[in-house]
Amino acid sequence: MFGLGAKNIGIDLGTANTLVYMEGKGIVLREPSVVAKNTHTGKVIAVGSEAREMIGRTPESIVAIRPMKDGVIADYDTTASMLKYFIEKTVGNSKPSAMICVPSGVTEVEKRAVIDAARVAGAREAFVIEEPFAAAIGAGLPVMDPTGSMVVDIGGGTTDVATISLGGIVSSTSIRQAGDKFNTAIVNYVHSNFNLLIGERTAEDIKIQIGSASVEKAEDIEAVNIRGRDLVTGLPKSVDVKAVDVAHAIQDVVQDIIVAIKETLEQTSPEIAADVIDHGIVLTGGGALLKNLPEIISEATKVPVFIAQDPLDCVAVGTGESLKNIEVMRKNRR
Ligand SMILES: Nc1ncnc2c1ncn2[C@@H]1O[C@H](COP(=O)(O)OP(=O)(O)O)[C@@H](O)[C@H]1O
Ligand SMILES: [Mg+2]
Repeated sequence: MFGLGAKNIGIDLGTANTLVYMEGKGIVLREPSVVAKNTHTGKVIAVGSEAREMIGRTPESIVAIRPMKDGVIADYDTTASMLKYFIEKTVGNSKPSAMICVPSGVTEVEKRAVIDAARVAGAREAFVIEEPFAAAIGAGLPVMDPTGSMVVDIGGGTTDVATISLGGIVSSTSIRQAGDKFNTAIVNYVHSNFNLLIGERTAEDIKIQIGSASVEKAEDIEAVNIRGRDLVTGLPKSVDVKAVDVAHAIQDVVQDIIVAIKETLEQTSPEIAADVIDHGIVLTGGGALLKNLPEIISEATKVPVFIAQDPLDCVAVGTGESLKNIEVMRKNRR
């Protein structure tokens, strides 16, 4: 018999964050998808937030790795070590059944890699669910109904756009333009305009504090003071960065996201397009929290846009709720 004594878990294995949902409990873990390793021995030193604090601050003997890239496993062994740590932290040594999300459009090989990594990490069995579908469930959209819903999940590595109806994905687009690219754009902007070198973490702080999808609305946001290393003198330096300039710097990424949404809308049937116009587009993932993003997308698509409640949790909640279907998935697999 499966699952005796062990609680089943849903895992949102994200490029930026990993969340674990436990049956009957809800979300029990939220940690950055980061692992710190000893460069000489390969031994894991820290996982999650502790490892994230080390990014950009490690001596030569330690390396902080983000094992997921663009939504898929980039470093298999490190992903398995990370999952093992998170699974043990939540369910101890009991071997749970696990439901894990994968981006829509991943290959069979990539799916297999996720399932294998989960089993190496201690799951007795693992199933995968498509991420936009999980996001839509977590956002409370009527995914099983004969009506079209559109969800846009903006994570660290990818933005996934999908229309969903009658329990399945009707059309979807995935682009590698999301949170990380906003950060890179900010690093590059500060570099070329102030001759200042800043790390990924500082760029992310700037984005969260003053980043705006709308250049116009950025006028109302105050500048922030940031610190980095002057590329000319090599010394620490601080400068004031204006929200309008940051908004300009991230515009290309914002526009790419809008194009992906428009293309997905164009691929759908007129019926589903009509449903989406009626119900609006729902944003999930951490990128949904970028200031003024719903307004900008709505302006470009002429469709109402909403941010899901707790956008960072949607995929994990949807993955967890899909545990209810695990019996059916087992049968289908046989
Ligand atoms: N308030 C915010 N404004 C803009 N971006 C944010 C905000 N909060 C989190 N993010 C971004 O969201 C991304 C992480 O979202 P998440 O959905 O957890 O990603 P993933 O599913 O890829 O792990 C990161 O790029 C992070 O910088
Ligand atoms: Mg995600």
